[in-house]
Amino acid sequence: MLNFSFQNPTRIVFGQAQLAKLSTLIPTGSKVLLLYGGGSIKSNGVYDQVVKALSGFDWQEFSGIEPNPSFETLMRAADIVRREKIDFLLPVGGGSVIDGSKFIAAAAMFHGDAWDILANGARVTSAVPLGCVLTLPATGSESNGNSVVTRYDTQQKLSFSSPLVYPKFAILDPSVTFSLPPKQVANGVVDAFIHVIEQYLTYPVNAPVQDRFAEGLLQTLIEEGPKALRDPDNYDVRANIMWAATMALNGLIGQGVPQDWATHMIGHEITAVYGLDHAQTLAIVLPALLQQQRQQKREKLLQYGRRVWQLQHSDEERLIDEAINHTRAFFEQMGVPTRLADYGITADAVDILVAKLEVNGMVKLGEHGDITPEITKQILRSAI
Ligand code: NZQ
Ligand code: ZN
Repeated sequence: MLNFSFQNPTRIVFGQAQLAKLSTLIPTGSKVLLLYGGGSIKSNGVYDQVVKALSGFDWQEFSGIEPNPSFETLMRAADIVRREKIDFLLPVGGGSVIDGSKFIAAAAMFHGDAWDILANGARVTSAVPLGCVLTLPATGSESNGNSVVTRYDTQQKLSFSSPLVYPKFAILDPSVTFSLPPKQVANGVVDAFIHVIEQYLTYPVNAPVQDRFAEGLLQTLIEEGPKALRDPDNYDVRANIMWAATMALNGLIGQGVPQDWATHMIGHEITAVYGLDHAQTLAIVLPALLQQQRQQKREKLLQYGRRVWQLQHSDEERLIDEAINHTRAFFEQMGVPTRLADYGITADAVDILVAKLEVNGMVKLGEHGDITPEITKQILRSAI
């Protein structure tokens, strides 16, 4: 096992009616900015509950944070935070609203051009504290220090990480996810599944605790994901998916093991250029990447096939093929197509996407750093 140092400071408050605890979680006397997206929280009743909980606070709101939040919108919010001397951010939404608020938290305190945080690795030395209400289980953003932001004019989707932007708390009430459209339920399950894969399906370092946690999360998502589509009003199913998605990317399973993330980096370019949902891009890239990397990932692919999909073929090459086929079939079963052509994207996209990766310095991807632009082209060509 590799060395590690691990701390996750986010308090998770989980379960039905837990939104009522919001007023006790925000520090007394805070000047609060409530942040949200396109208005789903107004139609499902979450907004009213949050407003009620904020009654004892001096607060204001900022809405319109887009899916794949835009740098331009977030900078407008950062200006408000500075001008109004806001000292607590309360994002209520999915990964986009929470990621966006993390960037706002850092940008509002940053001296200089905040784009440098995303594009040039400028260090974040202070951030406005935040706590969140999660409405879409998928990204793990509610309990990690990552944020992904898109600049629309240059078609760049970039990320930063800082321990200073971990949410202080995250309220996870599975019943707020009943209003999700099936497409977003499916996106969330696929995204969480691939977060586990990025931290698990690399090469063995004798880390059975991490491996079995990861396999348990994968099996839970395989079992519960289709149930959420079939039986959307089932609270327990929603609860299990919500907890699995948080555990998939709260840092725990990735400690002491190699990590991949090539599927995510390639997927981010597909979203930046063609506007596909995050999970759709991952469902396209992952099966093709696993095929291309089958030698490097051989031992873990066999373990994955045997333990997660219960495959028992004696022919190991066949077992690996089957493991990848099962993975693709699972995404398709969730209603997320796995080919570029399914989204109307043709072969000329390959050079465009790889050129974007090169501009953003993504030229040595994967756990071995061996996914070069040439290899990425092979992966994308086989994903058409
Ligand atoms: O805009 P609103 O009204 O909030 O509607 C959203 C949005 O249209 C809607 N929605 C959310 N909760 C709902 C709901 N609709 C009905 N009922 C509810 N309860 O769903 C749509 C998608 O929301 P979004 O926040 O964009 O989805 P998601 O949570 O999948 O977040 C995606 C973003 O997170 C980034 C992605 O790149 C993408 O920008 N990621 C962040 C990560 C992290 N912080 O660690 C890791 C991930 O790999 C990912 O990159
Ligand atoms: Zn993701």
